[in-house]
Amino acid sequence: MPTDIVVTQEVIWDARPEVIIETGVARGGSVILYASILQLLGAGTVIGVDVDVRPHNRETIDRHPLAHRIELVEGPSTSPATLERVRELVGDAERVMVVLDSDHTHEHVLAELRAYAPLVGVGQYLVVADTIVERIPVQEHRPRAWGPGNNPATAAAAFLAECDDFEVDHEVDGKLLVSSSPSGYLRRVR
Ligand SMILES: C[S@@+](CC[C@H](N)C(=O)[O-])C[C@H]1O[C@@H](n2cnc3c(N)ncnc32)[C@H](O)[C@@H]1O
Repeated sequence: MPTDIVVTQEVIWDARPEVIIETGVARGGSVILYASILQLLGAGTVIGVDVDVRPHNRETIDRHPLAHRIELVEGPSTSPATLERVRELVGDAERVMVVLDSDHTHEHVLAELRAYAPLVGVGQYLVVADTIVERIPVQEHRPRAWGPGNNPATAAAAFLAECDDFEVDHEVDGKLLVSSSPSGYLRRVR
């Protein structure tokens, strides 16, 4: 949603992450968006994780003028090998932001939240994308593994119930009005 793009730019500008990790790259639109804001800030790297980095997408991202700010990691986002590679790329960076936009099932997003949350620094954001799935009816014409009751919103609620280091940023939520990720912008507070 355009409002998500605007708010994401604000969040990056304010929190100034050294590293932004995104699970779910697809065609690379969002990793290039994040890289463009980091370019304006003059520093920072985007790590894009996808189970299937299609060759034509990799080639397009590699040829992009901001490719020097982007690292792609191919593999399931929660596999030990992927997490090891991501941690290696993060190194000792503390201002780390994470966006979860891969498989939107409850089980997978909760596993991602548990795996990636420890990387997020205090004051940084852990964005759970597509929490809107909880609010839209099942789309019979488009069978998906997720739907109401089993999606990023239910995973975020379960995660917040077990971890008090993060809170929904209600100021961000208030700015969004129309969003793919209502209550999905979690901020690390401790
Ligand atoms: C919604 S798309 C990502 C869109 C992208 N963030 C954007 O806004 O341009 C979801 C992506 O998640 C990837 N994906 C699905 N399951 C995954 C998993 N278990 N681990 C990593 N990536 C996964 C898919 O291959 C797909 O490219």
